[in-house]
Amino acid sequence: MMKEFIKRIPKAELHLHIEGTLEPELMFKLAKRNQVDLSFSSIEEVRDAYKFSNLQSFLNIYYNGANVLLHTEDFFDLTWAYLEKVNVENVKHVEIFFDPQTHTGRGVPISDVIEGIHSALEKAKYKFGMTSYLIMCFLRDLSEEEAIKTFEEALPFRSWIEGVGLDSAEVGFPPKKFERVFAKATEEGFRKVAHAGEEGPPEYIWQALDSLGVSRIDHGVRCMEDAKLVERLVKERIPLTVCPLSNIKLGVFEKMKDHNIKEMFDSGLCVTINSDDPAYFGGYINDNFLTIQKSLNLSFKDVSQIAKNSFSACFLPQDLIDNHLQDIEIFTLNEANNS
Ligand code: ADE
Ligand code: ZN
Repeated sequence: MMKEFIKRIPKAELHLHIEGTLEPELMFKLAKRNQVDLSFSSIEEVRDAYKFSNLQSFLNIYYNGANVLLHTEDFFDLTWAYLEKVNVENVKHVEIFFDPQTHTGRGVPISDVIEGIHSALEKAKYKFGMTSYLIMCFLRDLSEEEAIKTFEEALPFRSWIEGVGLDSAEVGFPPKKFERVFAKATEEGFRKVAHAGEEGPPEYIWQALDSLGVSRIDHGVRCMEDAKLVERLVKERIPLTVCPLSNIKLGVFEKMKDHNIKEMFDSGLCVTINSDDPAYFGGYINDNFLTIQKSLNLSFKDVSQIAKNSFSACFLPQDLIDNHLQDIEIFTLNEANNS
């Protein structure tokens, strides 16, 4: 009953790295097609290697997996496989991260990356009526100069990219290091987001707001250590894109029962539920909803509110957001009447 409710409720996914949707089956297929040598001999061996102790141990494997992505059609196949999956999960809108530097650093032209992803997003709009935005992330463990170079390389595709973000290893790489590239993004009218407060301290969330001017925080679970910060996030309605399965797999919380999303929610924060890197963390968006609902005993009303938050927090025009909110309201009322 709850499982069906979660499956069928309309939702948006706002924290999803397209490279993190690379399932071992597709990894093998692309390795063969592109004659890339994988250090694994079977799909089981790949899955066995997915045991992470922290963010860095995951990133090492994740960047290695991305080596099979070489051509436009690889990026198309990767994105299309994800979109087909989440269409069945009733995702109506996606805001997808991609990491151009993970690919340009291997000699893949940025145009191949963007064109492949973009064509799949267009196909999903046409076939499923699913809307989408692309968010280009800078790798924060590389220099700001490299981020600026990437930003400039992406400018010919400005109309296909809605926003910029910041990801990769967090601790030791404070957001303010990227002040100049985010200022350029502001000049060009991009939306701005940043991973902050996943492993890093609340100070990084302050910096993302004050030095980068972001309008949404990715993860942000460590904000709860700083009451003044929570007050600000609530007051300014800054949404947080929380990723429960990711947080457990990377040791941010030991067990799902220890997750602080309920406290975040009860503090008045606009929290959303997302999958981050579903092929690596053992579940797509509905699995993330279900596991957190079960562990923290969330009600139908809570689940409905979190689904609404996913649209309130997204970058769609307000009239479309209002339509989605209304759809959720009607869906929830119908379900309540039928039960
Ligand atoms: N890149 C992919 N997933 C990430 C995460 N959870 N944190 C930072 N960078 C990432
Ligand atoms: Zn992430």
